[in-house]
Amino acid sequence: MKERVEVSAPGKLMLFGEHAVVYGRPCIVTAVDQRMMVLAERTSEEVMEVNAPEVGVKNLVMTLNDLKKGNFPSEIRFLGTAVKNFFKNYHLAFGLKIKTRSDFLAEFGFGSSSAVTVGVLKALSELFEVKMTNKELFDLSYKTVLEVQSVGSGFDLAAAIWGGTLYFVTGGKKLVRLEAKDLPLVVGYTGVKADTPTLVKKVKNLYQAHPKSVEAIFGAIATIVKEARQALIGGEFKRLGMLMNINQGLLEALGVSTEKLSSLILAARRAGAYGAKLSGAGGGDCMIAFAPKEARLEVEKAIQKAGGKVIKVQPNALGLKVEEEEK
Ligand code: PMV
Repeated sequence: MKERVEVSAPGKLMLFGEHAVVYGRPCIVTAVDQRMMVLAERTSEEVMEVNAPEVGVKNLVMTLNDLKKGNFPSEIRFLGTAVKNFFKNYHLAFGLKIKTRSDFLAEFGFGSSSAVTVGVLKALSELFEVKMTNKELFDLSYKTVLEVQSVGSGFDLAAAIWGGTLYFVTGGKKLVRLEAKDLPLVVGYTGVKADTPTLVKKVKNLYQAHPKSVEAIFGAIATIVKEARQALIGGEFKRLGMLMNINQGLLEALGVSTEKLSSLILAARRAGAYGAKLSGAGGGDCMIAFAPKEARLEVEKAIQKAGGKVIKVQPNALGLKVEEEEK
């Protein structure tokens, strides 16, 4: 029987198709090489002890009874709900110690909640020797995320599990790994933390007020995603840049871009990027650009000059990984 397991899951960046993917359309997401580590240990006490320094949680102790009730402090809602659902699903209840450690700041919008959810469920399945396919892991992770924040397509969970670059349809209805090598990705952080559920709600309100127009926008985004899928496989970065620009125009039409995002995006384009757009829900977080090698430095400088912070990440990163096990 294992006493201790450590797993790690990558963060993600949305390349194309955000928001429309909440409404059944496809998107393209890439895993990034900034990882969330989750260490799970069995203990003989009837409590769960959590250390999650990236969200300021130190030696938090909950009884298994409180865990079952699901009243978690907001900092550990995803982690706690994941443990609760795992125990419930597999009729288990044991004392646990869970530690998390993240390579990246939650503010960047790289998907720390989804990486924690996937990491905890995978660590527990290893610890208790419960066999779970990746699809089962995805389904339980998705259930957990919907329980906590009630909206979301699950694209971030898929990236945390499978890694690489994925063509993904809402709820994992379709999932195709894309051979997208050497993406010339530049990432700029706005310095503003975005609240994804609020932005999803904003789009929902617009959709309810103008269903036909917003449907047409979602349809156009889906067309872009399908074209981008082909262009990614062919390594056609110029075409991908144009598609990013069109996608950004549609996201602006949905009202989710901000002045800061737009200024970083325009700066990147002016400095010679193939194209640029926001990544994720909008409202802040990060913008992304594809830039030719010879313009990369200029693009990075332009983003910085416009008030952004360039974040060095590699796309197409490895998915979920069991780091270490001790018997
Ligand atoms: O803000 P992020 O990086 O979590 O991305 C949200 C993307 C949405 O399409 C708006 C929501 C979703 O779950 O797909």
